[in-house]
Order: sequence, then structure tokens, then C-alpha cells
Amino acid sequence: MLKKIIPFSEQKIKEFANNTKTPFYLYYENGIRERIKTLQDAFSWAEFKEFFAIKATPNPRILSIVKEEGCGVDCSSMAELILAEKAGFKGDEILFTSNDTPLEEYEKALSLGATLNLDDIGHIDILKEHLHIPELVSIRYNPGGDFGNYIIGNLKESKFGVPKKDLIRGFEVLQKYGAKKFGLHIMAVSNELNPHNHIKVAEIMFNLVLEIHTNLGINFDFVDLGGGFGIPYKPDEKELDIYYVSSEIKKLYEKIILKNGINPPKIYMEHGRYITGPNGYLVTRVLHIKNSYKKYAGIDANSANLLRPAMYRAYHHITVLNKPLNITEAELYDVVGSLCENNDKLAEDRLLPKLEVGDILIFHDVGAHGHAMGFNYNGKLRSAEYLFTNDQSYELIRRAETLDDYFATLSCEKKDNLN
Ligand SMILES: Cc1ncc(COP(=O)(O)O)c(C=O)c1O
Repeated sequence: MLKKIIPFSEQKIKEFANNTKTPFYLYYENGIRERIKTLQDAFSWAEFKEFFAIKATPNPRILSIVKEEGCGVDCSSMAELILAEKAGFKGDEILFTSNDTPLEEYEKALSLGATLNLDDIGHIDILKEHLHIPELVSIRYNPGGDFGNYIIGNLKESKFGVPKKDLIRGFEVLQKYGAKKFGLHIMAVSNELNPHNHIKVAEIMFNLVLEIHTNLGINFDFVDLGGGFGIPYKPDEKELDIYYVSSEIKKLYEKIILKNGINPPKIYMEHGRYITGPNGYLVTRVLHIKNSYKKYAGIDANSANLLRPAMYRAYHHITVLNKPLNITEAELYDVVGSLCENNDKLAEDRLLPKLEVGDILIFHDVGAHGHAMGFNYNGKLRSAEYLFTNDQSYELIRRAETLDDYFATLSCEKKDNLN
């Protein structure tokens, strides 16, 4: 039976869970550092920089790790810009890849010296009129078409980025308004394990660099290939070979960019999932076993702690602590939370060891877009986050929400009757 490895001893994590309120998230510092180093090594042939997508794991302690490893950050909102600022990122270490952007977010991004990735050319005149056109600006491209990516789907249905005709017009206008340096951005696939799709995206972008250079004389400062490297959520899926992806992208870079005498642009990426995804665990406990038309294991986490299964029918592997899966004694469970929604199922028809109240379940690969997607429906509270540090300690990096936090935005005072 295929299983996933936990980088902690089962005994140690059980001891910790027994002294800690479940559910909680646990991140693995060493793993995060290693993934960044691998990414940087794979693309070391280029002037390469990874801008960690803050939305994946918006925690200052995680950001301090990615900063120490030489990454920048990609932000998409005011809160993420402020997180970047508080974590000490500044200037061209920050990309701002927003959409439907409020003016005050552009204002904040410009005040930090961040590089803007415009999602629409309509934003150019807004910037000129109300703020200013920075020296370096990037535009997000949407090539249309369908890479067969189940999260992003057909790009003609995507609200993100601009078609080619707008892109070229946008760069013309930016030139006219005095911009001097340019970037080209794309995010065409998400959680993509097919190497050929990443290679195809790079080919599209390098051909575009050549076309725009030929038509407008622009030399791009950088090409941002986006995030989207997939991770094997299922134990039988294979890890994406990023060295293969990189070597094929290098060949295209040489053929399309270097052979045509274009100034070599830097290669930027903004992965979240590839870096923190496999290095985060949700630790939760069985509260109830219910035998109905199906067998339900009710746990103390719910979709407000981990939305991906309800949102994308995403698979997250489960390890039951100290209970190896023995096929002859295994049972099929729906693993559910306590939300008043029937899709509050963190796993469906999952073969697990026979469960009992009190068993500790560990959900794998939740380090990106996990805690970050939390919400408060039914007044549920977001859990704490811990970091398992390189010196083998459990560091609290976000406390759990309390009911006081939940009520802090409400006024529950009884109003005097005015009649
Ligand atoms: C613009 C942009 N960049 C990067 C990312 C990070 O994607 P991933 O975590 O899949 O690498 C996202 C995710 O939504 C995104 O929207």
C-alpha cells in the first residue's frame, strides 16, 4: 500500500499533539529551505529569481525563511504588501500581481518600490492620472487556449491577464508615458505536473519577447513564468522533474532569445505550492464515528481549516498516527468536519485503518493554499500554525483564533428601544 512519509517521528508528533490544541498546522523548515535551493539550482543557468507567492502561506516567519534563502515575494493585495514590508522586503524584491486593483493598493505598492504586473491595460491611464508610471512595469499576458489544467481551465474563460493585441498596445502606451524598463508575466497553469505544459508556457513567452522586441524595439528586463509547478498530492503521483523542465526551457531561451541577439531577460518565477505545499501538515483528531448510509469520521478540523477538498475536490493524503494501513482491517470513510454544509468533506471514500475517537490524523501537503484559505463560516475559528524548526523545536508562528477574535468586529450591545 502506497504511503507518504512524515519527516517527524510519529511518537514525537503524538506527544506534541497530546499537549496542544488540535487542529493545528505544522510546517517543516528544513523542507522549505531545501525546495527553494533545488529550484534555484535547477534554474542557475539563468539570471533567476523566485518571488514566493505570499498568498500560499502568508505568515511572517515563513517569509523570513524564504527571504534568508534569497527569494523575493509576489503580492496580490494590501495585506500581502504589508506582510512583505513587515518581513523586510523592499523595492524590486516585491512583485505586485493584482487584479481588479483598488487605487490605494497601487499607491502602497509604488511606495514600497514594488514592480507592478498590470492585469489590464485600463490600469495604465489610472496610474498616470492618479499616481505615476514607474520606470519598470510589467503586463500579465493571457494567451487564451487550454492547457488542460484543471484549476485554471480554458484561458479564454479566465479573468486574468490581457490578450496579445492589448499587450502590444499596452507596451506602446507605457513607452509613450515614459516607462523605460519592461517585464512580461504569465500564470497559465496551476498545480501542473505535466512538464510539457511548463515548457510550452516558456516557449509562448520567449516567442512573445521576440515579437514585441521586433515590433516595438523593447528589451525585456524580465520574463515572469508565474507559479504553478505541481506537487504529487497522491502517493502514486510522480514528482515534477524540474531539472528536465529547466533544461528544456534553457534550450528554448538559447534558440529564441540568445540566437536572435535580444538582451537576455532575467527569468522570474512565483511559486508557492512547490515550496511550502509538501512542507505543511494539518494535525487533527477524530471526534465522532458515525455509521449512516456511509461511514463518517468526524474530525475537529473542517473545510474552514482546509478548503481545497471542498473547493476543487482536491486529494490530501491522510496518515493515521500509530496505525499503519492494514488492508484486511481497513474501512472506507468520508472524513468530515462540523460545518453545516454537506460538502464539508476533507476526504471521501478514503480507505483508512479502523478509526476510533481520539485518533490523530495528519493531512499531507497542506503547506500552500491551506491555512491561507481559512474562513469563519459557522463561527469556526482558524487554527494555530507551528514551525518544526531546524533545531527540532515546535515554534508557534500564529496563535489560534479565539471567540474574542470572532466577536471583535461585532457590536453585541443591546440597543435602547427608541419607541
Ligand atoms: C499570479 C499568481 N502567481 C503565483 C501563484 C502561486 O501559485 P502556486 O502556489 O500554484 O505556485 C498564484 C496562485 O494562485 C497566482 O495567482
